[in-house]
Amino acid sequence: MNTQELIQHTEQCFKRHFSEIPENIVLSPGRINLIGEHVDNYDGFVLPAAIDMYIVFTAKKNDHGKVRIFAADIEDVATIYLTDDHEPSKKLWENYFLGILRHLKNSNKNISGLDITFSSNLPIGAGLSSSAALSCGFAFLLNDLFDLGFSKKEIALMGQWAEHNFAGVKCGIMDQFASVFGKKNQVILLDCMTADHQYYNSDFDPYTLLLLDSGVKHTHLTSGYNARRADVFRGADILKENLPDYQNFRTLSLDQIENFKSKLSDEEYLRLIYIVKEISRIRNAVKSLEKKDFVNFGKLMYLTHLGLSEEYEVSCEELDFLVEEMMEKEGVIGSRMMGGGFGGCSISLIRKDRLEAVIHEIKSAYHKKFNIALKDYPVNVSDGTQIFSL
Ligand code: GLA
Repeated sequence: MNTQELIQHTEQCFKRHFSEIPENIVLSPGRINLIGEHVDNYDGFVLPAAIDMYIVFTAKKNDHGKVRIFAADIEDVATIYLTDDHEPSKKLWENYFLGILRHLKNSNKNISGLDITFSSNLPIGAGLSSSAALSCGFAFLLNDLFDLGFSKKEIALMGQWAEHNFAGVKCGIMDQFASVFGKKNQVILLDCMTADHQYYNSDFDPYTLLLLDSGVKHTHLTSGYNARRADVFRGADILKENLPDYQNFRTLSLDQIENFKSKLSDEEYLRLIYIVKEISRIRNAVKSLEKKDFVNFGKLMYLTHLGLSEEYEVSCEELDFLVEEMMEKEGVIGSRMMGGGFGGCSISLIRKDRLEAVIHEIKSAYHKKFNIALKDYPVNVSDGTQIFSL
């Protein structure tokens, strides 16, 4: 479904479910990330962009003191009473709404009731940040509807808060930031220490970006993600005890990690090595982008994949296969798994004239190997969360 169709569909679902006409529409996009994976938790830089796959929210205020939600794609409903003390629920999708409402309460912001329907053409569990799109889209909608006065940055931070406290993933800020701050045809270089950011043109001509969805849902993401994070912070604590001038991950060097290797577990060592290398890779990648040296950019993407697979250990057999196969193909200059890992999408940089042939070849190789129908998504870099005027 394209964006227009999705908007109409979500409106129709609202009308059918609530027997009313919605008054507000918000589009909340997913994101890609070119390079800088997982380092948003560790003082790093990331290079994401919003894409034109959305969760669409249609809404109307009500006088019932409750938020009534219809999740149209799965035909599920939730009713949240505004006077309740909101706690995490067993229903995963509802947690993003509960988390935002709880955050509003903590900030002493009052809202009245509303009815919402949401529907999406953003694949769920594919590493394209559907959860950030859900929490930030809802926060954006409330901010607009009730004039709450939150800045875009505060909305991104609210989404992250909901993810940490209601969904249980101790994520960084990349996904929420990209979803809210996205700009058409621009990638965002985000400094995750300061939240400073700048935009770069996303035109890679004569190359283009391609997403391939492994079809493996990242069900181990929560436990795997938090476990990697725990390895890193345990390792960092050991380094801090031994390095009097330790400042942060950004100033850490590979030599410093090597010097204390014997004090670190294998996992702590590998995770830390990955982080230091990835922060340095993204600095190089930005220089390549500035010089339009896409071939070098692509090489760095592939090195990131190797790091994610062998050091940070968040890849899986299917993603490794996809990336290795892609790198063999004529016209492909970079490929890697993207996002949190344990499934989801790969992202590749590929010469435009080879796009169709390569998609055909990789689909057939993937099907032969795993008996899974590989999906491809074209990448259109889009604006971030936005109000759609009726
Ligand atoms: C998930 C998290 C992000 C980031 C990526 C990996 O998407 O939500 O904060 O850490 O994984 O780069």
